[in-house]
Amino acid sequence: MKLSKRFPEKRVLITGAGSGLGRALAEHFARDGWRVGIADVNEAAMGGTARLVEQLGGEPLVRQCNVTVDEDMSALATGIKKHWGGVDIVINNAGVSGGGTVTSTSTEDWRWMLEINLLGVVRGCREFVPMLTKQGGGHIVNIASFAGIANIPAMASYNVAKAGVIALSETLRAELDGTGVGISVVCPSFFKTNLMTGFRSNIPGQQGWAERVMEKSPITAADVAAKIARAAEKEQFMVLTHKPTKAQYHLKRLAPERYFRELLKQVNKFQRR
Ligand SMILES: NC(=O)c1ccc[n+]([C@@H]2O[C@H](COP(=O)([O-])OP(=O)(O)OC[C@H]3O[C@@H](n4cnc5c(N)ncnc54)[C@H](O)[C@@H]3O)[C@@H](O)[C@H]2O)c1
Repeated sequence: MKLSKRFPEKRVLITGAGSGLGRALAEHFARDGWRVGIADVNEAAMGGTARLVEQLGGEPLVRQCNVTVDEDMSALATGIKKHWGGVDIVINNAGVSGGGTVTSTSTEDWRWMLEINLLGVVRGCREFVPMLTKQGGGHIVNIASFAGIANIPAMASYNVAKAGVIALSETLRAELDGTGVGISVVCPSFFKTNLMTGFRSNIPGQQGWAERVMEKSPITAADVAAKIARAAEKEQFMVLTHKPTKAQYHLKRLAPERYFRELLKQVNKFQRR
């Protein structure tokens, strides 16, 4: 069923909406006449997205929220309920990136990553799932990454956080069965955003490598946003936005040892570049 038919009130909330994918999602939904809840830790960035949403005919609702703070997420849910009476789609998108091996990543950096990229999504689900189930409908979109499936070396904390988001989403999918609330988990490969701005890594050259891969991505944030909206419309659970990752995903499930050998070959090829 078409997204706007399932959700005639057209209310979407996006965390991390100040930049990159979050902003592209805000623009996508605004173009379709949705009311767009813009939540981010960065106030100036939220203002930029709000102006774009207005220019595109959408109705922005701006709320500052740090996804690592329980009270912020709680206040966000209360504010949305008060202002809109409910919400149709919640997109847990806010995130950061970082590299480092399992043994070289400091406890502080593990905590930083897991607090934002995993527990930020946990908080979003904990606050909004009860609202959606009470309404008897709605859709949760959790932004993970193909990193949480591929598990390439030296991206330890990022891989673990994103694998956690996938596990969380699978668990929630089963818990939501029969409630009328849908869920999607999105696993993109690289696409160009500002994600590398706050990249944390103790490996020399790693940030430059990741930035070059991002630059070369054939897919834009707008393309990823459109795929996410389509997935919510079709109530598709696993969303693999980049074509090559579909074969890799199935190879890993059907022939994990072969997948592992292929992964090492790809990593060695990249490291020689
Ligand atoms: N760009 C990629 O190649 C790629 C690939 C796979 C997955 N992702 C995921 O997409 C999501 C969006 O990232 P992006 O690429 O658009 O990066 P981005 O840096 O352009 O945007 C991330 C946004 O999240 C916000 N944010 C960061 N910490 C926050 C916090 N504690 N509370 C609230 N907001 C916070 C930032 O202010 C920013 O506006 C992330 O979850 C990222 O892991 C990105």
